[in-house]
Amino acid sequence: MPLFPDNFLWGSATASYQIEGAVHADGRVPSIWDTFSHTPGKVHNGDTGDVACDHYNRYLDDVETMSWLGLNAYRFSVAWPRLADLSFYDRLVDALLAKGISPVATLYHWDLPQSLQDEGGWTNRDTAYRFADYATAVHALLGDRVTTWTTLNEPWVSAFVGHGSGRHAPGVSDPAAAFTAAHNLMLAHGLGVQALRAAGAESVSLTLNLTPILGDPEPARLVDGLANRIFLDPVLRGEYPADVLEHLSRYTEVNLDDLPTISQPIDVLGVNYYTVNRVVADPSASGSLEHPGTEGIAWEQPHGTLTEMGWEVIPSGLEDLLVRLSHDYPGVPLMITENGAAVPDGVSDPDRIAYLDGHVRSVHNAIQKGVDMRGYFVWSLLDNFEWARGYEKRFGLVRVDYETLERTPRDSARWYRDVIAAGGLPS
Ligand code: NOJ
Repeated sequence: MPLFPDNFLWGSATASYQIEGAVHADGRVPSIWDTFSHTPGKVHNGDTGDVACDHYNRYLDDVETMSWLGLNAYRFSVAWPRLADLSFYDRLVDALLAKGISPVATLYHWDLPQSLQDEGGWTNRDTAYRFADYATAVHALLGDRVTTWTTLNEPWVSAFVGHGSGRHAPGVSDPAAAFTAAHNLMLAHGLGVQALRAAGAESVSLTLNLTPILGDPEPARLVDGLANRIFLDPVLRGEYPADVLEHLSRYTEVNLDDLPTISQPIDVLGVNYYTVNRVVADPSASGSLEHPGTEGIAWEQPHGTLTEMGWEVIPSGLEDLLVRLSHDYPGVPLMITENGAAVPDGVSDPDRIAYLDGHVRSVHNAIQKGVDMRGYFVWSLLDNFEWARGYEKRFGLVRVDYETLERTPRDSARWYRDVIAAGGLPS
């Protein structure tokens, strides 16, 4: 039986806007996702996060479920729009600790206050400074009990899906804005790390969505730069990769003096992994708005088994990614902060079990190859608001009935419970 280190974190992950609901409670102000989801045509089926899983009111039941699962860690995000009254997170953290579950708090999982968007959002450098103030405020409230902090979740998505294709809030489609947002998000991360350290935080991290790019070497290298190295190198090496800098300079200018701030040392890198992308050179292809300047590159249809998101199931991609990261960015411990699958609805979910099993095995293989792995978090604890895809796509270990808000653990929840109890996988 493949065993994992004793102090390995076995968790699940969620994010505020995707599960909380209660959008008007306790002085919460609107976020860009309230605006976006209430704009006709932006989200599948017109779904919004107004009620979501009503976790804001049902968190004690959800913590019970986590305890039943045997989780020793839970990754959640704090909603910046709740800054006026963060007492919900105070209660949540106490409930987690009472069950022996370590809270892993993400400060920004995409719900930017609309008031900041009205001043330019992530295209405005000032937002990065506002983020650091917000980080200080959250740490003042929770820092006596939360030891593990993540500044941002998937800044690539905020920058390039939010400002490149516009499929996500704030729904902008402008390559210059996308690259500027990427830079300002990294600045926010760096300033956030400084703020958290100044406040005495023990462990600080950043979570990136890293997608291995397979296919023709030249286009794959460019797209890898625009998808992965554009964040990895500034944060972990203190420099933009030369090819990426040259590419983005065609659209905008970034302030290279920010790099020392951006590259503050972090204690762990969070990796969200779901799939790979495959690209080929194709002179007639128009490229991807989420990777500006990729005209002449085509994205191939995914191979083999796909999830409901249309994403290729390829666990070996995770092992390869982890080994690559440990070679290219040595000395940075890694943690899988998200991995999971949307599969057809039902309580029986053998495809999700197969997906998770394959990926946990990949993590174990990476450990055996010497990669310093600290934890694994399933996305997600509950079915939830899957952004532009609405509630139709279901990622939960636990099923949510959106009529009654009733929770039902799936077969995968029992499977995960057994894995955690055994400290590893059945061989
Ligand atoms: C990444 C995001 O962090 C999360 O919010 C999303 O629901 C999952 N991936 C699945 O798409």
